[in-house]
Amino acid sequence: MRTHTLITLLILLSQTLFAQKYQPSLQNEKKVNALLAKMTLDEKIGQLTLYTTDWGSTGPTIREGYKNDIRSGACGNLFNSHTTEFVRELQRVAVEETRLKIPLLFGFDVIHGYKTIFPIPLGEASCWDMNAIELSAHIAAKEAAAAGLNWTFAPMVDVSRDPRWGRVMEGAGEDTYLGAQIAAARVRGIQGKKLGGTDALLACVKHYAAYGAPVAGRDYNTVDMSERFLREYYMPPYQAAVEAGAATVMTSFNDYDGVPATGNKYLIDNILRKEWGFKGFVVSDYTGINEMVNHGVVKDEKEAGELAFNAGMDMDMQGSIFQRFLKQSVKEGKVREADINLAVKRILHLKYDLGLFDDPYKFCNAEREKSTLLSAENRAAARDISRKSIVLLKNDNQTLPLQKGKKVALIGPLAANKSELIGNWNGAGNANDCVSLREGLEKYLGTTINTIEACQVNSTDKSGFPAALDAAKNADVIIVAVGETAMMSGEAAARAEITLPGVQEDLVLQLCQTGKPVVVVLMNGRPLAIPNIAEKASAILETWWLGTEAGNAITDVLYGEYNPTGKLPMSFPRTVGQVPIYYNHKSTGRPYDPNSKWTSKYIDQLNSPQWPFGFGLSYTTFEFGAPTAKATLSKDAFVQVSVTVSNTGKRAGTETVQLYIRDLVGSVTRPVKELKSFQQVTLQPGESRVVTFNLSKKDFSFYRKNMRFGMESGTFEIMTGGDSERLTRTTITL
Ligand code: GLC
Repeated sequence: MRTHTLITLLILLSQTLFAQKYQPSLQNEKKVNALLAKMTLDEKIGQLTLYTTDWGSTGPTIREGYKNDIRSGACGNLFNSHTTEFVRELQRVAVEETRLKIPLLFGFDVIHGYKTIFPIPLGEASCWDMNAIELSAHIAAKEAAAAGLNWTFAPMVDVSRDPRWGRVMEGAGEDTYLGAQIAAARVRGIQGKKLGGTDALLACVKHYAAYGAPVAGRDYNTVDMSERFLREYYMPPYQAAVEAGAATVMTSFNDYDGVPATGNKYLIDNILRKEWGFKGFVVSDYTGINEMVNHGVVKDEKEAGELAFNAGMDMDMQGSIFQRFLKQSVKEGKVREADINLAVKRILHLKYDLGLFDDPYKFCNAEREKSTLLSAENRAAARDISRKSIVLLKNDNQTLPLQKGKKVALIGPLAANKSELIGNWNGAGNANDCVSLREGLEKYLGTTINTIEACQVNSTDKSGFPAALDAAKNADVIIVAVGETAMMSGEAAARAEITLPGVQEDLVLQLCQTGKPVVVVLMNGRPLAIPNIAEKASAILETWWLGTEAGNAITDVLYGEYNPTGKLPMSFPRTVGQVPIYYNHKSTGRPYDPNSKWTSKYIDQLNSPQWPFGFGLSYTTFEFGAPTAKATLSKDAFVQVSVTVSNTGKRAGTETVQLYIRDLVGSVTRPVKELKSFQQVTLQPGESRVVTFNLSKKDFSFYRKNMRFGMESGTFEIMTGGDSERLTRTTITL
C-alpha cells in the first residue's frame, strides 16, 4: 500500500476515533482544489461573504437584494434564514442559478435551543453536568439541522466577571476551568461525532477574544488587560472549544492591546492558527470589519478589509467590505490572491464535510422538521436540564419543598408570564410553547391558583400591591416571581444598576412583612444585587430564564419532585459597587482583614459576595472531611486527591464536589484559589463516599514570569467543598 494512502487512512482513523481538533478531510482536498481552479476572483470573494436575509436582524444593518447576490455568486453564505421551505428556495438559487452551483452555508444563533428552548447558557452553566449540557446542545443542533440550518453561531464562551454586561447570559460565567469544560461539551453536542450528519451543525466558538471583559461592563467597550491575564483567565475556553473540534471561530467587536480582534493578527494568526493549530475558518462579527473605522485603526472601509483579511479573517459578516473592495486590494497588491485561495479552501472544505455538494438539500426535509421540532422527547430533556439549572440560594426553616394542601398565593409580574421565559437569543422559540410558572403549578396541584401580577417588571406603579397583599393574607405560603425582562440581558443590554427593576423589591419586602413564608422565584439573565430580599425572604430560587419547560421545572423543585443541585457559575454581588467581583482573586499585599484599617476593603460594604461562585443549597445537607493529597507523579495522575463526602440530611441528594488549589508562592502573584476539577455525587441519607480526583501537572501550571506555561515547585493548598467558600483543606509540596 502506497505510503500516502496509508497516512491518509491513519489520519482518517484518528479523526473518527477521537473527537479532536477539526482537520479538513484529505479525501476532499482534490475536489476542493479542482473547484477552486475553476473559480473567478469574484466567485472566490463571494465565498468569503456572509449576508443576513431580511428574516431577522441581529445587528445594525440589513441588506436588500441578497437573492441577486446569491445568483451572481457575490454571496456564498447566509444567516438568519431557516425553515426547510425558505432554505430550500435559497439553496435552489445557489445550486441551480449560479455558474458553479456551490451550495450555501446557512447560519443562525442557536444559542440555547432552536424551537425547544433550553435554559439560557448562564442558567445551564449552573447545572455543572457536562452530559446534560452536551445533550442540550445536541438537541438544539438536531432541531436546527431539521429546519434547514447547517451552522450555528455558538457556543459563546466568553469568560465574564461583570454582571453589568448583558451578554453574561450567553456564557458560562466567571470561571476559566468550568467555562472550558462547558465550551468543549457544547462543541461536542453541536457537531456530534462527525460533521455531515443531519443532526449536527458547524459550531462557531465566539467571541474571540476576551469580549467578556469590557471596561465598565458596557457592551462593545474597550478590553484592556495584560497578555498574562488574557492567557490565564480568558483564552482557555476558546482553546478548549478548538481542541474539541470547533469548525469555525467568530472574532469579537472589542480591541485587545489596542488592535480590534477583527484585525488582530496576533490573536488570529499567531495564537489561534499557529499556536493552537486551528484549521477551520474565521468569521467576523456583524459588520465588525466596518467598525474598525470607528475604532480609528484604519482610515476607511477598504483599509479595514485589508487589515482584517491580512490578519487572518476568512469571512465578512454583513459588512460587504470583502465584496466591495477585496478585488481592488488584490489588484493593488495589498492582498494576495494566494491567501484568498487559502480562505476559500477552508470554507469549501467545510461545505464538503457537511455533505452539501452531495446533497445541497440534505438539511431541508420537511417530514424530519415536523417530527423533530418540539418533540415530547426534546421537551422532556429540556425539563430535566431546566431542573438541574435551578439554584437554591436560601431555604430558612425548610420552607421548601412545599407540601401539597398548603394554600398558595402566586404573585408577581413573572408568575403567569410566558413571553419572557425563552430569554434573549431565543432562536425560533415561541413563547406560546412555554409552560408558565402558574401553568406548571396548576397542572401539578390539579387546581387553579390565585395569581396576582401586582406590578410590571419595570414600572413605578404600585396600584396592584393591595390585591397582592390581600391574596397573601389568605394564603399559607406566598410564591413571588420577580426578575428582569428577557431583553434586559443579552447583546447591547448592559445595566449600570443590577438591582431588581421597578418596584419589585418593594413588593417582595411588603409581602415579607405579612409574616407568611415568602418563596422568591428569580427569573433573570445576570447576577442581581438583592441584599434586602436575601435577608428577608424565607426561600430564594435562582431560575434564570429556563425556556419552554420553565413552569414544570420550577414546580418540580418547589414541591421536591427534584432536589435542587444547581451551583452558581458567577458570584452574586451585594452591590454593583463591588464589581468586578470573582472568587479567584489575588491576595494583594494587604489582604482583607475586617479588624485592620490598612487592608484591601471598603468602608461601607463587605468584600464578600452575597452568594459566592459554586454556591447552591440542597434539600439535604452534606459534610466534607479533610482532603488528602499524594504526589503520584504518574502522567495521568500527577497528584491524587481524596475527600470523604457525607449526606448528613434526611433525603437523597446530589452534591457537586469542587476542588480548588492555591499556589502559595509563584514567580508572579497567584489567585487565592482556582477551580481545577469537580465531580457530582448522589448520596442517600447517611451515606458517605470517598471522592477521588486525579490532577495533572497542567493543573498546577501557569504563565510564569517568563510567560512560559509551566509549573514551579513549592507548596500548594488543596481545597474541597460544595462551593468556593466553605472548604476543607490540606497542603502538598511538589
Ligand atoms: C451579533 C452578535 C453575535 C451573533 C451575530 C449574528 O452582533 O454579536 O454573537 O452571532 O451578530 O447574529
